[in-house]
Amino acid sequence: MSTPLRRVLVSSSAIQRNVERLRELAPAKDTMVVVKANGYGHGAELAARAALAAGASWIGVADIGEALELRDKGITAPLLAWLHAADEDFVEAIGRDVTLGISTVAQLRAVAKVGGGTVHLKIDTGLGRNGIGRDQLTEFLDTACALHSSGDLVVDGLMSHVSGTSRETDLAQAEIFVRTRDLLADKGVSPTHLHMAASAAAIDHPSLRFTMVRFGIAAYGLAPTASHRNLELAPAMRFESSIVNVKRIAAGDGVSYNFLWTAPKETTVVLVAAGYADGIPRAATGHAHVEIAGVRYPVVGRIAMDQIVVDVGDARVNASDPVGIWGDPKAGTPGVSEWADWADTISYDIVTGIGNRVTRIDIP
Ligand SMILES: Cc1ncc(COP(=O)(O)O)c(C=O)c1O
Repeated sequence: MSTPLRRVLVSSSAIQRNVERLRELAPAKDTMVVVKANGYGHGAELAARAALAAGASWIGVADIGEALELRDKGITAPLLAWLHAADEDFVEAIGRDVTLGISTVAQLRAVAKVGGGTVHLKIDTGLGRNGIGRDQLTEFLDTACALHSSGDLVVDGLMSHVSGTSRETDLAQAEIFVRTRDLLADKGVSPTHLHMAASAAAIDHPSLRFTMVRFGIAAYGLAPTASHRNLELAPAMRFESSIVNVKRIAAGDGVSYNFLWTAPKETTVVLVAAGYADGIPRAATGHAHVEIAGVRYPVVGRIAMDQIVVDVGDARVNASDPVGIWGDPKAGTPGVSEWADWADTISYDIVTGIGNRVTRIDIP
C-alpha cells in the first residue's frame, strides 16, 4: 500500500509524557484531560488512553455524543460532558455513567426526571459563556440542592471556566467560585469535585486548582498562550504531506491563483498535496514555511484547496521526501504555534481544523 498523500502522525507517548509533566507542574487531587473535538484533532480514544496511562483520573468532552463514542471504544474512566441542547435527552448518558456538566435549571430537572444521574454544576463566574448566570443562580442552586436531597440526582461537582483575560480577572472569577461553593455548603451540599482551571490557569494560578485541573491543549504539547511556550512539552502531532511534482521555473513565472508570487529568479518549486481542505489555513498565504529533509522552505503563492507550492531554490529535493507541515520545531518542522501566528489565529484552531482526507497514523 502506498503512503497516504496527507497524514497526521500522532504520538501517544508524547501525550502521556506531557500529562505526566503537567501533573508535576500543576498538581491537584484529580487531573482531567480534555479530549473534545476528537482529542483536539489527535484522536479522542488515543488521547484518552494516553492521559489515563499518565495518571489522569477524568476525561472531559464537550457533548454527550463525544462521551458515548469513548464509552463505545471501551473507555471506562469517569467522563464529564458539559454542552447540551435545550431539549437534550439524558437517558443514554446517565445509563452509561457519563457525568453531566449542567448549566440550566431546565437541564437539572431533565436529569432528575431520568433519575440516577450525576452532575457537576456549571457556574458562569464571569466568562460570559456556558454555566448558570448570576441572574438565575439562586434558583439553580436551590433546585440542585432539593433534587440532591430527594435523591433524584447527585451533585458531585461544581465547575467554572475562566476567561484568561488577566491574572486579576481570573482571580476575581475564583472568588465568585468560592462564594458559590460556600453558598452550596450553607444549603447542605458539598460536592467532591471543584474545578475551574484549564491549561493556562492551572499552570499560572495554584489557587485555581481546587480539587481538579482540566488540561486540554497542553496535554497535546502545545502552549495555551504565547507566555507558555517554554514549558518543555512535546508536540504530539506531526502533519506531513507528499511531494507530487517538482519543476524548474524561470524568473517572472507566476505561481498559484492570482499570481500573488512570481519567481524573482530561476528556481525550483515543489508541489505538495495538502491545502486548506486539509486544514492548512489559507490565511497563512505569504507567511508559511514547511520542512523538507530537515530544511525549512517558504510556501509561495496562494494556499489552495488541495495544494501548496514550496520554493526550494537550487536545492535538490528527493520526490519521496516527506514534507513536514507542522510538528516539532526541534526537528526543524514549523510548530503549530508558528502556523497559528502566520494565520492570525491560535494553535487550538490549527489542530482541530484537520480535514477528512487526512489519514491519522498512531505512532508510539
Ligand atoms: C470547560 C473547559 N475546560 C477545559 C478546557 C480545556 O482548555 P485548554 O485546552 O485551554 O486546556 C476547555 C476547552 O476549551 C473547556 O471548554
